[in-house]
Amino acid sequence: MQNYVSIIKNNGGIKPVSDELLLPLIVPQKRLLLGPGPSNLSERVIRAISNPLVGHMHAETFKMMDDIKAGLQYVFQTNNRLTLAISASGHSGMEACLANLLEPTDTILIIKAGLWGERAQEMSERLGAHVETLTIPLGSAVTHQQFESAMKKFKPAVVFLTHSESSTGLKQPLIGFGDIVRRYEALLIVDAVASLGGEPFFMDAWKIDAAYTGSQKVIGAPPGLTPISLNSRAERKLLLRKNKVPVFYWDMKELGNYWNCFKEPVRRYHHTISATLVYGLREGLAQLAEEGLESSWQRHAVAAKKLREGFEARGLELFVKEPENRLNTITAIVVPPGVDCQFVTRRMMEKWNIEIAGGLGPTAGKIFRIGLMGTNANLKNVDDVLHALDDVLKYSTRHSRL
Ligand code: GLV
Repeated sequence: MQNYVSIIKNNGGIKPVSDELLLPLIVPQKRLLLGPGPSNLSERVIRAISNPLVGHMHAETFKMMDDIKAGLQYVFQTNNRLTLAISASGHSGMEACLANLLEPTDTILIIKAGLWGERAQEMSERLGAHVETLTIPLGSAVTHQQFESAMKKFKPAVVFLTHSESSTGLKQPLIGFGDIVRRYEALLIVDAVASLGGEPFFMDAWKIDAAYTGSQKVIGAPPGLTPISLNSRAERKLLLRKNKVPVFYWDMKELGNYWNCFKEPVRRYHHTISATLVYGLREGLAQLAEEGLESSWQRHAVAAKKLREGFEARGLELFVKEPENRLNTITAIVVPPGVDCQFVTRRMMEKWNIEIAGGLGPTAGKIFRIGLMGTNANLKNVDDVLHALDDVLKYSTRHSRL
């Protein structure tokens, strides 16, 4: 037996652990997650992630990663071979696209219509790129004319556009933007974190060069893996880079090898992917593929329509004014005058065990955001959240008058 007495003494003793850690784990069992994500997991996904752990280089894990790749090619509607999932949450998709496709001398044009454009600007500046922005009023979509004149003015190498602006509830139409970007020989990055699987998205047909989404939203897996896809134009840029991708962890050539995208003879160790998250993503994708994209889009549209009608019947104002630009996955309403946004979200949680969110970044304090994504996109949840909101808004109006 090793005697640790002297090493403990020489290092000043062992600091004690907090008593809290030694209490039993407490996890709310029935919380309804109707914020902008994560969404509740289906029983099937919960069963999948409860399986015993296997290793990140085991044949069974590789097989599941291959299945995930096929599932992602389906949801992105792409034949891109460089399609995989990064081991980190949705933000990593943004940072990976920017880190791989931007070089320090490049100009990037960022369409800013909420928090995600702001975040892409921050990341691009950190990468040393030259950043130009086109700011669109919150809740509005960029038009082809606005977009093309910015392309003409700035001649960017890379363009960043958000499909699902979860900070406002905006769905940015995408058709035609890829054609404009190609006329200027640039690359188009699209953030589809809060929409993929719940709204039509055709990566190849819409000529999108790089896109990413979240595992924890429509796909219905836990957060922690970020689906991403780069096409052959984006791959070419990667090959022609003068400098290495500045962050090894985001390097799509390394990740592409680990995910067997290039059919190289050996899959090299890159990092330790969580097999547990792989099970969850595989099953979330299998579930979505079994339902079929069209049915999933339809289900999200039906639930969102009922939610919007419920808000309008109560005199609540939808934040996005153009009906065709409203996301079906996340609906934003204006906080009514005299209502304290934080009070409402807190009471929804404490009394009803339902998560809804306030605004984010530029919309903080101005809107409520209700997400109906993945298995949560159903009519019962719409009834439940409207019923709870009726109660909380009534209470909060009384409360704020006191
Ligand atoms: C996160 O995706 C959010 O919109 O809050």
